[in-house]
Amino acid sequence: MTTKEHVLKLLEEYKGQTISGSKIAKELQISRAAVWKAIEDLRQNGYNIQASTNKGYSLPSESDLLSTQGILSHLKNKDLGKDILTYKSLESTNQTIKKLAADGACHNTVVVSEMQTNGRGRLGRSFYSPKGSGIYMSILLKPSKTEQTTYPSILITTAASVAVCRAIEEMTGKQIKIKWVNDLYYKNKKICGILTEGITNFETSAIESIILGIGINFSFPTEEFPTELSEIFGSLFNRKEDLLNCEKSKQTQIIPSKNALIASILDHLFEIQPQLNDGSFLKEYKQRSCVLGKRITVLSPSEAIPALAIDINETGGLIVQLSDGSKKTLQSGEISIRPEDLTTGWE
Ligand code: BTN
Repeated sequence: MTTKEHVLKLLEEYKGQTISGSKIAKELQISRAAVWKAIEDLRQNGYNIQASTNKGYSLPSESDLLSTQGILSHLKNKDLGKDILTYKSLESTNQTIKKLAADGACHNTVVVSEMQTNGRGRLGRSFYSPKGSGIYMSILLKPSKTEQTTYPSILITTAASVAVCRAIEEMTGKQIKIKWVNDLYYKNKKICGILTEGITNFETSAIESIILGIGINFSFPTEEFPTELSEIFGSLFNRKEDLLNCEKSKQTQIIPSKNALIASILDHLFEIQPQLNDGSFLKEYKQRSCVLGKRITVLSPSEAIPALAIDINETGGLIVQLSDGSKKTLQSGEISIRPEDLTTGWE
């Protein structure tokens, strides 16, 4: 880490509080002049660091620029923090991590961006990724040789959905549900999509790398969504409304920092990885499902088949009952559910 990065990490750890220049200098074993230079550099990079005479420096609690140091300051599992790369703008974090994987990047490498110019969704769709109000992150997973053959890829996707739900609920107290396979809903709107991609060894057909891409609509003012998306998509927070509530209730921070949520997602993903062996997270996946027991439509490019969603099997497949009473297990693909059916079952 550079001096500037060390200073930022410390300011993130003391976010909202003032820390004196001499304390920073002492902790990092650098000169006061070096502290001053690092602070100036950080300001040039957009950090609104406040200085008060005789007291020191502070990063305001509402400061929410993504940074590796900001994420590290919240991360519980320090084994994870070795390769976290943050960017201002990328075409797609999944694309970047694919290139890094080809260059030998290691297991648990993380790429995060403030915005994406060509964010990718499932089934060839694009993912709306504007600056400042979303979280766009990808994690590189490199299964061991035995794991390469044992896990169905859908199970990784379902485990990731549960991990992200846990992190969001823990940080925000909001109840999150899952629409099979991996769309996360808050109230009756989609607030998160997950795109899992695999890199296969051509000769052995083994999946050597898995790229887990997570996109969260974090704090969009709802009216900023393009009209064609606003029917389906929502946001975890509504920046304008939540700030207003915050002022009314005299709370300083109602919206958690994006760095903190990213760190919590990484911690939960790390924690859930061993459960891939026994699928024990599937019980929670089912409890969080907003489709089980409901009428859905199974979508394919050529048809739309009405069905009843009955159960999730041990590999994450969705078991449905068709109108003739026969049962079918979906291992991939797309289903839809009527908005009025989505609204039931929320606490
Ligand atoms: C979907 O809902 O269809 C999946 C959306 C996945 C979006 C995320 S954002 C980070 C990562 N990079 C991408 O280009 N896509 C995924």
